[in-house]
Amino acid sequence: MNPRLAPEHVDAPAAPGAEQAPMLERCGRLREYWYVACTSAELRDAPLGRVILEEALAVFRDAQGQPVVVRDRCLHRNAMLSEGEVVGGCLKCPYHGWTYDARGNCVRIPSEGQDCALPKERLRRYPAREQDGLVWVWMGADPQAIDKDPFPMPHYDEPGWGAYYMVTHFENSVTNCAENFMDVPHTVFVHKGWFRSTTRKQIRAVVERTRDSVLVTYHQPHDSIGFTGFLLNPSREPMVHTDKFYLPNMTRVDYDFGSKRSFIITSHSCPVGPYETRVYTLISFRLGNRLLNRLGRLLLPPYTRQVIWQDVVIMANQGASLRRYGEDFRNSPCDVIHRYIESLREHEARGGATAPPPQTTEVDFFV
Ligand code: FES
Ligand SMILES: [Fe+2]
Repeated sequence: MNPRLAPEHVDAPAAPGAEQAPMLERCGRLREYWYVACTSAELRDAPLGRVILEEALAVFRDAQGQPVVVRDRCLHRNAMLSEGEVVGGCLKCPYHGWTYDARGNCVRIPSEGQDCALPKERLRRYPAREQDGLVWVWMGADPQAIDKDPFPMPHYDEPGWGAYYMVTHFENSVTNCAENFMDVPHTVFVHKGWFRSTTRKQIRAVVERTRDSVLVTYHQPHDSIGFTGFLLNPSREPMVHTDKFYLPNMTRVDYDFGSKRSFIITSHSCPVGPYETRVYTLISFRLGNRLLNRLGRLLLPPYTRQVIWQDVVIMANQGASLRRYGEDFRNSPCDVIHRYIESLREHEARGGATAPPPQTTEVDFFV
C-alpha cells in the first residue's frame, strides 16, 4: 500500500445518511417525552443496545441496580458500548476496555495503567426512570427540563388484575402503528375470525380531540371480541368500549363487561426510525377472581400474540408502500380518528405554539 494512503492519513468517509439530521434533531417537540428503552425484565446483568429516534443508546444497571442510559458510542474509537459488559455497575467497552461509570465519566483506560490521565469529556447521558415494569428514557434536548412523568400503565401489578407485556417490532411509523391500534374497520379483514368477522353491524362512535389526546367512545353494547367471550364475558354483560390516544405515542383500548370484568390493551409505540417502531404492549385484565385470572394468564398470551402478529404483517405491507411512494392518503369520514392523531403529532413535530382546536365529532362505522 502506498504509505501516503495508510489508514491514519485517510479522511473518515461521511457516515451514510449524514446529509440528513437524525430523527432526534428533526422531530420538534416529539422528543420532549419519556420513551420506553426496554422492559425491566429485559435489563439484567448485561447492557442492552436500543435505538430511539435514530439515537443509539446503551442501557445498563448501576451498582445500586438503577437504570442508566448513555449514547452507545465509546469516546475512544467509537465502538458500541452495548456489546460490552457491566463490571461493578460500570460499563466496559468491548474493544479496548475503556470503562464508564453511571454518570458517563471514563474511570479506567486499561492500556494506560493505573494512574493515567482520564478524559474530561463524558458520555452523553439521558435521564432514566423505572416505572410499571418498564425502563423509560427522557429524550428531550435539555435533561433539566423534564416537565412530565412517564405514562402510567394501567393496573400493572395491581391486586385483582393480571398483566403481561409483549414487545413487537413493526416496520412502519409510530403514527401509523398508533392509528392501527385504534382502527376498528380493519379488524374484520386483518383479524377475520380471530377478533371480529363481518356482521354488517353499524357502530356509532363519539370522537373527541383535546389538546393532547384523542378519545373515542363506541356504542356497541352487544358486541364481543373474538372467541374470548367465554372468558371475558360469560354472563353477557353489556360491553363498554373506549379507545384513547395520548401524545406522543400511547394508545389505550378498554373493554369493560359489567363491574367485574375488563380487558385493556395499552401500547407504547417507540420510534426507532422513520419506518421502524418497537411496540411495548401491556395486556391488563380482570376476570372476576384469582383462579380465572390465572386461566387468563395461560390462555390470553397466545391469542393476543396472534392478533398482534396479524397487525405486524399489515403494517409491514403499508410501510413498504409508504417507503416506496410516500404518503398520499384518501380519507373517508370514518378516518376521523386517524386525522385527529395525525394533527396532534404533526403539531408537536413542528414544535408550533398553536395546538389544533378541541373538537368533537360523531361517526358511524360498519363492521
Ligand atoms: S473503542 Fe472503546 S475502548 Fe477503544
Ligand atoms: Fe389490529
